[in-house]
Amino acid sequence: MLQSLDDQIVFAPRWPASPFPGLRPFRVTATEDESLIFYGRNRAKDEILARLNSSHLVFVVGPSGCGKSSLLKVGVIPALEAGLLTHAGANWRIAEMRPGDRPVRNLACALAALRTDADGNDVSDQVYDVLCSDENGLWLVAETLAPRAAPNPLLILIDQFEEVFGSQIVAPSEAKSLLELIVAFWAKAHPNLFLMVTMRTDFLEQCANFPKLADAINATLFMTPVLRDSEIKSVISMPPEPYHGVVEDKLVEAIVKDTSSEIGYSPDHLPLMQHALSWLWNNAVSAAGLSNSPPRPDAIAPSKIIMLTHDRYVAHGGLKGILNEHADAPGRTERARTTHRPGGVYPPVGTRREPISPVANVRHGSCNACRLWGSGAGKSRFGIFRSERLLPGSPAFGARSGRTHRRESRKPDSSMGQVARLGRRGGRKDSKISRARCVGMPVAAS
Ligand SMILES: Nc1ncnc2c1ncn2[C@@H]1O[C@H](COP(=O)(O)OP(=O)(O)OP(=O)(O)O)[C@@H](O)[C@H]1O
Ligand SMILES: [Mg+2]
Repeated sequence: MLQSLDDQIVFAPRWPASPFPGLRPFRVTATEDESLIFYGRNRAKDEILARLNSSHLVFVVGPSGCGKSSLLKVGVIPALEAGLLTHAGANWRIAEMRPGDRPVRNLACALAALRTDADGNDVSDQVYDVLCSDENGLWLVAETLAPRAAPNPLLILIDQFEEVFGSQIVAPSEAKSLLELIVAFWAKAHPNLFLMVTMRTDFLEQCANFPKLADAINATLFMTPVLRDSEIKSVISMPPEPYHGVVEDKLVEAIVKDTSSEIGYSPDHLPLMQHALSWLWNNAVSAAGLSNSPPRPDAIAPSKIIMLTHDRYVAHGGLKGILNEHADAPGRTERARTTHRPGGVYPPVGTRREPISPVANVRHGSCNACRLWGSGAGKSRFGIFRSERLLPGSPAFGARSGRTHRRESRKPDSSMGQVARLGRRGGRKDSKISRARCVGMPVAAS
């Protein structure tokens, strides 16, 4: 049967402009679906679906930069939307958030955004009050947003959960509340609610200080494996194919060698590889004279194949050389001061110590950028690269010295110290509004 025009538009694949996203995680937006260029994670995806199926909660843990966020955003979520968790169906509603400086407020905002029929601020306040006032808040909210009889399951993705341990948290009670909400949800999962959490392995230690959270993590952990060499080969060579591109075998081998887990894991391997591939792709597109109409899978094939060559990779200094070269591009220093785009790479912009934004603090605290800073130019470029990848939009990242990073990343965690103190005093509930006042929210869990 012929599809209507509307159906064809809805189901047309939304190819991204480039086969490689560069430094940032893969993502799905209204116009670009990067699950179409995502490879190497089928086994991990199946494992996570199995955990969601059995416990409705999964903690996706792994070393910094190993691909946790990408795996969930363009691996697991599209699989759920394709109906692969059969008993839940395919009509998912998805709330995605990061703890940031107000973990529960940010969760409430993400959940409220699902209610398109009401005033966003009102709903957000109501959800916030429910989440703050009852540790079964997730169950209560699910009853409203995804009642048990309804066909739309609700998925919450809490990305970069390690932020709850950061000193940027302005309301420590919210960090503690988020932990308690997760623990209560694990003890009693709502049939129509599923929860996925990503966290760097470095922060498992801090979780151990909260025994119930540790129990929940033990029962629901998925340890994200570093991509194997065979998987790295496919993530290099497969994405360009529909874009009429080819990666020389020799180049694939060289990158696999430079990033291999056999030489020891580095949190920079995967992002550096992505950055180099994205740069090589743009470079090859320009060399073919196609900058104005880069090849796309959904457009007429160009007259020339886009070739990513080993010679060009070597000529530009491999993974690190390409990073440095990009950082040295004319005009970049000025841009670094003014626009800090996610995924961009910028040169150092001074080493003066300046006031540091709270967001900058936590993300540096939660990454390994400090270890990359050092005397060599390459090292400081690396530092910038890590900073930029992890600090999109932070106004302060470029003005900080390596020493500052190092000192801060060693600083004992202040917000969770406060949370622990609050816990001892039993002072969790900071909501001024009682549950009964929450219009539209059921008061009692069944
Ligand atoms: N399967 C994959 N194939 C190719 N590149 C990948 C893959 N997964 C992730 N990447 C790339 O690796 C880098 C890190 O990815 P991502 O941000 O998802 O990792 P992460 O583990 O969430 O990092 P962090 O610890 O900083 O939160 C990004 O450049 C991303 O584009
Ligand atoms: Mg991540």
